[in-house]
Amino acid sequence: MRRAIYPGTFDPITNGHLDILRKATGIFEEVVLAVANVTGKSTFFSFDERVDICRRCCEGIPNVRVEGFDSLVVDFARKIGAVTMIRGLRAVSDFEYELQLALMNRMLDRGLETIFLVPDHNYLYLSSSMVRQIVRLGGSLDDFVPKLVEERLHKQFQVVDKPVSV
Ligand code: COA
Repeated sequence: MRRAIYPGTFDPITNGHLDILRKATGIFEEVVLAVANVTGKSTFFSFDERVDICRRCCEGIPNVRVEGFDSLVVDFARKIGAVTMIRGLRAVSDFEYELQLALMNRMLDRGLETIFLVPDHNYLYLSSSMVRQIVRLGGSLDDFVPKLVEERLHKQFQVVDKPVSV
């Protein structure tokens, strides 16, 4: 079976990520969307929440499985039998970081190749941090994330922004 891994922080998953995922399912027999616990950045949603949100958003997309992982991505890819890693390339600014990631992963495991997919043009400038900022400032996320993600963001911001009672 041609299985690919699509790893990320997904904090939160956006329509841009889902667009890449759907494109990948047209190429591979199975795509494992892999939510990283260790990402090098502090996250807005916990690991469990990110996995749960991704699972719910991917329900109904055929040939997709959502898994969380706590190791090097190359080790997790080997464990699940994936030989291809999918990453989205949005703008030139992504390139340097993505090239570094792909080369580093290849150094760690020569058996894992990275393939870059380009999102639809309306998602080219979308990012998870912009989504978080828009919801925080009361903007509409209709075109950027599934409804469920918007609801979870609102809920989480209520928790985070609640004044501490003394
Ligand atoms: N649509 C919308 N946004 C996208 C996107 C798309 N198609 N593709 C990338 N992005 C954005 C994300 O929204 C996110 O934005 P933010 O920085 O504003 O939050 C950013 O690009 C990157 O996030 P994401 O796609 O979730 O991936 P990542 O770069 O955070 O993922 C891992 C990094 C998980 C792949 C990497 O940390 C990893 O492999 N960790 C496991 C440990 C490991 O192996 N480390 C060594 C690696 S050499």
